[in-house]
Amino acid sequence: MSALGSGNYAKTRAAAQSDPQGFWAGVAEGIAWDKRWDTVIDDSRKPFYRWFAGGVLNTCYNCVDRHVEGGRGDQLALIYDSPLAGAQRKFTYRQLQDEVARCAGVLRDMGVGKGDRVVIYMPMVAEAAIAMLACARIGAVHSVVFGGFAAPELAKRIVDAKPKVMMSASCGLLPGKAVPYKPLLDEALEIAGAPATPCLILQRPELHCDMVAGRDVEWNDAVAKAQPADCVPLAATDPLYVIYTSGTTGKPKGVVRDNGGHAVALRWSMDAVFGVKPGDVYWAGSDVGWVVGHSYIVYGPLLQGCTTILYEGKPVGTPDAGAFWRVCAEHGVNVFFTAPTAFRAIKKEDPNGELVKKYDLSKFRTLFLAGERGDPDTIEWAQNILGVPVIDNWWQTELGWPAISNCMGLEYLPVHPGSPTKPVPGFDIRILDEEGREKEPGEIGSLVIKLPMPPGTLYTLWNNEHGYEETYLSRYPGYYLSGDAGYIDAEGYGWVMSRIDDIINVAGHRLSTGQMEEILASHPDVAEAAVVGVADALKGQVPLGLVVLKMGVKHTDEEICKDLVARVRAQLGAVADFKSVHVVARLPKTRSGKVLRVTIRTMADGGEVKIPATIEDDAVLPEIQEALSALGYPRKS
Ligand code: COA
Ligand code: AMP
Repeated sequence: MSALGSGNYAKTRAAAQSDPQGFWAGVAEGIAWDKRWDTVIDDSRKPFYRWFAGGVLNTCYNCVDRHVEGGRGDQLALIYDSPLAGAQRKFTYRQLQDEVARCAGVLRDMGVGKGDRVVIYMPMVAEAAIAMLACARIGAVHSVVFGGFAAPELAKRIVDAKPKVMMSASCGLLPGKAVPYKPLLDEALEIAGAPATPCLILQRPELHCDMVAGRDVEWNDAVAKAQPADCVPLAATDPLYVIYTSGTTGKPKGVVRDNGGHAVALRWSMDAVFGVKPGDVYWAGSDVGWVVGHSYIVYGPLLQGCTTILYEGKPVGTPDAGAFWRVCAEHGVNVFFTAPTAFRAIKKEDPNGELVKKYDLSKFRTLFLAGERGDPDTIEWAQNILGVPVIDNWWQTELGWPAISNCMGLEYLPVHPGSPTKPVPGFDIRILDEEGREKEPGEIGSLVIKLPMPPGTLYTLWNNEHGYEETYLSRYPGYYLSGDAGYIDAEGYGWVMSRIDDIINVAGHRLSTGQMEEILASHPDVAEAAVVGVADALKGQVPLGLVVLKMGVKHTDEEICKDLVARVRAQLGAVADFKSVHVVARLPKTRSGKVLRVTIRTMADGGEVKIPATIEDDAVLPEIQEALSALGYPRKS
C-alpha cells in the first residue's frame, strides 16, 4: 500500500478495495431510487456480476425530473451551441423535462415500450440528447450511431439491435456543407432488410429530406401534438443503452450498460474524478455517437445537476482556433473535456495560444483529455496556454467512465506527463505477463482489471454473452482484458502504451484495421491486404493500407488504389480517414502465414525494426522499406 500514499485519494481507494459492497452502497445514496437494491453486487453467476440487483429506479428521472423537483427547475440544463448552424438554444431543467416527456410520448405512441430498442442516428443537435433521455424515460434501450459512419455500418447495428423505431435528422453539418443523413438512413434500412421500420425525422432548415409516406414521422410536428409520458420504473439491472464499438473484426461489439450501476457510477465520477458540483457548467467536446458523448455530454453532467453543453462545431475553422475558448467564456464553462487531437489541431493554427487571450476564462478550472494517448507535448502546451490543470485520463467504451485518472474531487496528485496518473477507486488494475503472472513495477504487460469491475462498466455484449466472456474474460480468468499494454511504475502511476490487438485510434475515434482489411480484401483485384495505424502529428494515428494484387489484373495500380479508398469511405465511413493505400509485391509474414503488421508499422514510423525470428523470408523487408520510403514514410510532422 505504500505506493498509495495517505491522502484522500488513498483512503477512498482503500475503502473501495477493502469493502466494495459498503463503499458502493454509500455512493448509491447519490441517486434517487424507487426501491432500494437487495444486493449491492450479485456474484451468483461468476464471472458475470450485476450491480444493485433488486433495485428500481429511472435514469431519466434522476437526470431531469429529480432536479426540477429539487429546486433546479430554472437552472440551465442543456445549452446547444452550433457555430455551424449559427444557432444556440438553451433549456432549463423544467424546459428539458417538458421536451423529453413529450418526445417520450411520441415514442410511446409509435409503439415503443420497455425493453424495445431505438436506434438514434443524429447529428449534434439538442434533439439527440432529448432522444436518449426520452428512451431512458420509457425504458426503451437506445443505441446511438455516430453520424460519420456509412450506411453499411449503420445497417450492421440495425440488424443486431432490431430497433422498433429509428430517430434521425435530414442532415448533419460540417464546415462548408450539410451532409445528408436521410438517404444513408434509407439505404441502411434497405441493407438491413428492415425498410418498413418507423422513423422519427427531424427536418433541419439547412437541408430538408424526402419523407416516406406512411412510415416517416416529422419530429417537430409529432412532439408538438404529443402528450407527455411519465418515467417508467426500471430494474437497476435493466439495460439503458447499447453502444457499438470496433472489435478486431468487421462485426461491431454492442457494449451494454445497465440503469442502476451506470447512474451511481456516472454521478459519482462527476464528484470524484472531475471535481464537479451541482450547478457547475460542464462541457465535453465530443459527439453523442461516442462513449464520451453518452457519459459526459448527457448522463454524467445531468445526473449531477450541472449545465451541459452540446457543441456542433470543430476545434478549428468554426470560425478559428479560438472556438473552444469562445464557448468556454460565453457559457462560463468550469470543466472541459475533449481529445488530445483537438488540441493538436489548435496548436497547429495558434502555436502561441494568442486566441486564448481574447476571452475571459476566469471560471475555467480544469481540462480533461482522453480517447487516445495524451502525448506530453500536447499536455504541457495546453497547460501553458490555459494555466489550469490538464488531466489525462484512460478508459474505453466498455468501461464507460475513467479507470485511470487524477481524481480532482478527491486529491490532485502530481502530474507525470504521459501517464494518466493512478487507478480510479473501484478499478483494481493489474499488469500481467503471457502466463498470467503479475509483472514487476515498470515492466510492460497486458493491462487487465480484476473482477468484479465497479458499477457503470459493461456487463455483457448485446445478444452475445458468450462473445463477452470470450473476448474479455477468458484470456485471464478472474480479470477483464482491456486490450491495452502498459505498466504501473514504482509510485503506482499507470502508463498506457499501445493496443495489443488490431484497433487503432484516429483523431480519438476507435477503428478496426481488421475491418478495413476485410473491405480491401473483398475487392476483386486484391489478393491480400494489410492495414496498420501509422503515427500522425495531428490525428495520433492514421491508417495505411498495403495490398498485393492478383495476377493479371486489368486496372492500373492507381485506379485500384483510388477504388479502394472510395470503398472504405462508402462501406465504413469518412471518419476512418482511409486515404493511403499502396500496391506491394508481397507482404512480410511469419512461417505460419501471419502478416507482420507490427513490423510494417515500425518501418513506416521510422522505428528500429527487430527482425522476428519467425519471419518466412526476410528479403521482403528491404522491398517494403523501399516502397514505404518512396511513399514518404516516415512522415515528417
Ligand atoms: N458526419 C459525416 N462525416 C463526418 C462526420 C459526421 N458527423 N464527422 C466527421 N466526418 C468526416 C469529416 O468530414 C472528414 O471527412 P473528409 O475526409 O471528407 O474531410 C472525416 O470524416 C474525418 O473527420 P475528422 O476525424 O473529424 O477529421 P477532420 O480532419 O475533419 O478534423 C479534427 C480533425 C482533429 C479537428 C477532428 O478530428 C476533431 O475535432 N477531433 C476531436 C476529437 C473528438 O471529438 N474525439 C471524440 C472522442 S473524445
Ligand atoms: P474508445 O473505446 O473509443 O474510448 O477507445 C479506447 C482506447 O483508446 C483505449 O483502449 C486506449 O487504447 C485508447 N485510450 C483512451 N484514452 C487513453 C489515454 N488517456 N491514454 C492512452 N490511451 C488511451
